[in-house]
Amino acid sequence: MLKELLAGRGVPAIWDGTGDWESRRREILDTLLQEEYGYLPPAPEDLHFEEAKEDYYSINFCAGHACLRRVVCSFTLNGKPFSFPFKAVIPRNKEKIPFFIHINFTPDVPDKYLPAEELVDNGFAVFSLGYKDVTSDDGDMTNGLAGVLFDGRPREASDPGKIALWAYGAQRVMDYAMTLPELDPTHSAVVGHSRLGKTALLCGATDERFACAISNDSGCCGAALFREKEGETIEKITNVFPFWFCPGFAKYRGLDNELPFDQHFLLAAMAPRRVFVGSASEDSWADPANEFLSCVAAGEVWEKLCLPGFPCEDSIPEPTTAIYGGRVGYQIREGRHFFSRQDWHRYMEFLRSF
Ligand code: GCU
Repeated sequence: MLKELLAGRGVPAIWDGTGDWESRRREILDTLLQEEYGYLPPAPEDLHFEEAKEDYYSINFCAGHACLRRVVCSFTLNGKPFSFPFKAVIPRNKEKIPFFIHINFTPDVPDKYLPAEELVDNGFAVFSLGYKDVTSDDGDMTNGLAGVLFDGRPREASDPGKIALWAYGAQRVMDYAMTLPELDPTHSAVVGHSRLGKTALLCGATDERFACAISNDSGCCGAALFREKEGETIEKITNVFPFWFCPGFAKYRGLDNELPFDQHFLLAAMAPRRVFVGSASEDSWADPANEFLSCVAAGEVWEKLCLPGFPCEDSIPEPTTAIYGGRVGYQIREGRHFFSRQDWHRYMEFLRSF
C-alpha cells in the first residue's frame, strides 16, 4: 500500500540496484548539491584547535562525571583565516564512547534542546555548536564563514546557502572529535532540530565519517518528501529563507510535485551508513507523514544492498511509535515542534541498537 502510494505520487526511484551504489550515491548527492543546497566549501587548510584551560565550572560539570571543554577551531579558507568556538562534553574515564555532534541554535551547554547531563549519564559524549558562530541565519553573506568564502562577490546558482555552511562547520567539529582516542566513531551521529535537522542530514550525507545522521522535526528540505506535502512548500520556504539554499533552488517554486529528485535522495545518500528521522505529531508544518514516507522510499536502497532497510508496517504510524532494527529508523512522539528529552532518548536508543 505504501509503495503504491509513493508510485502514485510519482516519487522518483533512487537506484535500480544495478552497477555500483557508491557511484550512484555520488550522482544523487551531486543533484542535491547542485540544485538545492549548493556545494560545500573545499577542505580547510591549516586546521587547528585550541582548548581553553579547565576551570572550576568545567571540572565540576555533571558532578565531575564529564569534562566540559571549550574549543576554538581555526583554519584558512579562500586564503583567509576563520575561527569559531564549540563545546565538548566528554564522560571521564571511559573508552569507546558513542557521541553526538549537535548543531544547535545557541552555544549554551546545557540548553533547552540539549540535556547534556542526561546524555552523560547514559554514557554518551556530545559536542555542541551554536550555528550562528559559523555564520548568521539571514541573507547577509559578508559575515563568518560566508564572508570568508564569498569575499563580497555575488553567489552563483550552485554556491552554498547557509545550511551547507553550517554543515561544513559541524564537519570541522568532527575533525576535532577524530583526534580523541576515547571516542567510538562507529557510533557517531550528527543531529539537529528543524532547520538544523536539515543541516544534520546534509552534513552526514556529505561526510562519510559520520556513522549516522539524525534529523528532528526537519520537515521541508529536510526529511519530508516534497510531493503532496502538507504545510511548508518550496515556494514558502524560498520566500522566507532563500539564503538557506543555493540561488538556483528558487527555480523549483511551484514544482514540488514534479521536480526530478525528492528528499528521500538525501536520506539514501547515507547508505550504507545509518539515518534516523524524528517527527512530532502536531508538527503539520513539517509534515510527519511525509517524513515517514521518505524513510519508506529511501529504505529500498539498503534492501538492494542486502542490508536491513526500513522495517516498518505497511501503514503510516500513530504516535507514539519508534522503529529500530534497520539502518533507517523513525520515531514519532506526541506534541509540538521541539527537541525534547524524549527525542534524545530515542536517538540514544538508536545508537545503542547496533
Ligand atoms: C521555520 C521554517 C522551517 C524550519 C523552522 C525552524 O518554521 O519554515 O522550515 O524548520 O523554521 O528551523 O525552526
